[in-house]
Amino acid sequence: MLPSANWILGLGLLSAASVVRSAELSGHAQTLFDQSMMIQDEIYDPEVSYLRYFYFPLAAGPHETRSTVWHSIGLLQRNQGNDLFEAVKILENVIGDQEKDTSLQWYGDYTVYPEQPTVGTPAYAPVIYNSWDPNWRGFIGTALIVIYEEFGSLLPPNVQDLILESLYNNTVGDSYRVGGVDGDNLYPAYSNAWLMRTVATSWTGRKLNDSNMTTSGDVYAQEFLNLFDINGTLPEFNGPTYAGVSLYALTIAAKYLSSTSSVIGQNAERVIQDIWEYESLLWNPNLRNFAGPWDRSYGYDMNNYVAIMAEWIWSLVGKEKVWHYSSPIGTMTHADDFEIAPVIAVLSEFHKTLLPNSILHRLRSFIGEHTYTGQTYAPPADYEPRNISTWLSANLTIGTDSFNQSVVGGYSEDSTSFSPSVVQWLRPGGSIGYFNLYPTETALQASVSPYALNLTYPLGNETSTFTFVLASNPLGAKRDIFGLEDVDGLNIEVVGGSANPVPEVSFCGLVGGTCDIVQ
Ligand SMILES: *[C@@H]1O[C@H](CO)[C@@H](O)[C@H](O)[C@H]1NC(C)=O
Ligand SMILES: *[C@@H]1O[C@H](CO)[C@@H](O)[C@H](O)[C@H]1NC(C)=O
Ligand SMILES: *[C@@H]1O[C@H](CO)[C@@H](O)[C@H](O)[C@H]1NC(C)=O
Ligand SMILES: *[C@@H]1O[C@H](CO)[C@@H](O)[C@H](O)[C@H]1NC(C)=O
Ligand SMILES: *[C@@H]1O[C@H](CO)[C@@H](O)[C@H](O)[C@H]1NC(C)=O
Ligand SMILES: *[C@@H]1O[C@H](CO)[C@@H](O)[C@H](O)[C@H]1NC(C)=O
Ligand SMILES: *[C@@H]1O[C@H](CO)[C@@H](O)[C@H](O)[C@H]1NC(C)=O
Ligand SMILES: *[C@@H]1O[C@H](CO)[C@@H](O)[C@H](O)[C@H]1NC(C)=O
Ligand SMILES: *[C@@H]1O[C@H](CO)[C@@H](O)[C@H](O)[C@H]1NC(C)=O
Repeated sequence: MLPSANWILGLGLLSAASVVRSAELSGHAQTLFDQSMMIQDEIYDPEVSYLRYFYFPLAAGPHETRSTVWHSIGLLQRNQGNDLFEAVKILENVIGDQEKDTSLQWYGDYTVYPEQPTVGTPAYAPVIYNSWDPNWRGFIGTALIVIYEEFGSLLPPNVQDLILESLYNNTVGDSYRVGGVDGDNLYPAYSNAWLMRTVATSWTGRKLNDSNMTTSGDVYAQEFLNLFDINGTLPEFNGPTYAGVSLYALTIAAKYLSSTSSVIGQNAERVIQDIWEYESLLWNPNLRNFAGPWDRSYGYDMNNYVAIMAEWIWSLVGKEKVWHYSSPIGTMTHADDFEIAPVIAVLSEFHKTLLPNSILHRLRSFIGEHTYTGQTYAPPADYEPRNISTWLSANLTIGTDSFNQSVVGGYSEDSTSFSPSVVQWLRPGGSIGYFNLYPTETALQASVSPYALNLTYPLGNETSTFTFVLASNPLGAKRDIFGLEDVDGLNIEVVGGSANPVPEVSFCGLVGGTCDIVQ
């Protein structure tokens, strides 16, 4: 694709000026930025101006849309050589493929990958969270706001206008989303997706003087705050990936909307502080993990998967505080979630200014044994607020919640990611052991005290089981686990209750075993 003549002229004028960058990144943010861009530069395909699809097992060949937009932020921040030229091609391509038919449920959404057939054609049925992803409006829309705000002056005027037009269609399409309708699940409790829509709608309404859009953004914000303010917690509680996305959306609101009357802009800073207040109490720097319980996690040990919260912590206090002992990022589960790192890095300098030193201190070094208690509420799954209680000691954490829900597996009805009772410990040799209750019931009464976890199924009967996901022992420890006494690094005792204390052991293996692998 050839750039237009106007644009060449624009580039000539711009490159004559000194290089403009968003933020001077300090040490930690810069290493986060550099390491992610090093990976992305290798998988960028300038022939088509998309990043190659990274990590997704069957995607050898295709490219990927959302991560490419994140990459364009990295290119604009770096702004050397062809970077600006490539970023403009990316924006024109991605917005060019945005859905333009207002009658479709996915109006204003972007492709998941550019080679996909047209959604809604005979060979490519519209399947939400599959052939189209409604959250891509939120992810890409918020990224376009960062591009417009931080790097707009680098871009030719027609591209600036294109971004605004894209955001307008994006937010109109996003207003079609109603939890419980047409297979959608966007309720205020779905914090990360709800906040991205709130921020994109609020910003775009103000930018385009569309008072209906502005009002919608404020209504979304108030609905979120009504849940958040029950106990200053995200309804999508303590998810190491998605708390990071919520903080990302809130940072955009705090940075670009706090000087307006926007409801989310007015509240974003204190919500960010409240989130870090409890997250920093749940963080165990010795284990480099958030203690449980977690709504929606993609693993049980953050040393082995890429969580977006780990990228924030890296930007704030350094990589050695999160992934010092990990193998290279490309070998970790959800490695593709590292592709948002350039965006986190660009926002992190501002983000850090919102945090008191007490929070940074808790992220750096363990503050001593303590217990966290709180509440969180995610309707319609939760019939009533959940009660969280978590005990943290230097080398062992136990965290759980009591709940009464309409479905098994929490808000997203997914027992593989809803982790209501989590134990983690430091094993000899430095690796992390864990076990976690695999949800099979809609209600749980649970409490924690030092070294003890008490679980009761209020609706259980003699067919109920307590099923735990347990880490394999590390290499060098016992190969086979026949009973609790074989678990490495922790003495586990069943001290009472009505359940059979002798566990049945299954192995969910990479290749073979008696059950399917979980995360
Ligand atoms: C926005 O949607 C309108 C239809 O309402 C369409 O004509 C226009 O091309 C779209 N713009 C972009 C950038 O997709
Ligand atoms: C106003 O916003 C609501 C919710 O976002 C939307 O359903 C409605 O169509 C909008 N009305 C106009 C006139 O844009
Ligand atoms: C929105 O309104 C403001 C103030 O009235 C004005 O300066 C601005 O140009 C308007 N923007 C658009 C896109 O209409
Ligand atoms: C809210 O959470 C705090 C801990 O952050 C706790 O001390 C307090 O008791 C909680 N309040 C309620 C009503 O749950
Ligand atoms: C935690 O583990 C470290 C490293 O093995 C050890 O030095 C320390 O004494 C342990 N702390 C406690 C309270 O067990
Ligand atoms: C949470 O704690 C409150 C106060 O103790 C209690 O009334 C409520 O039933 C508890 N909720 C659950 C789901 O156990
Ligand atoms: C759970 O909530 C439902 C609906 O509010 C209520 O009927 C039921 O008694 C509660 N069950 C428990 C075990 O708390
Ligand atoms: C465990 O919890 C149940 C139900 O909340 C309670 O009846 C029981 O006394 C508790 N057991 C211990 C040892 O704390
Ligand atoms: C036990 O609970 C399960 C799940 O609620 C239910 O399907 C089953 O009928 C119950 N069995 C008895 C004997 O009550």
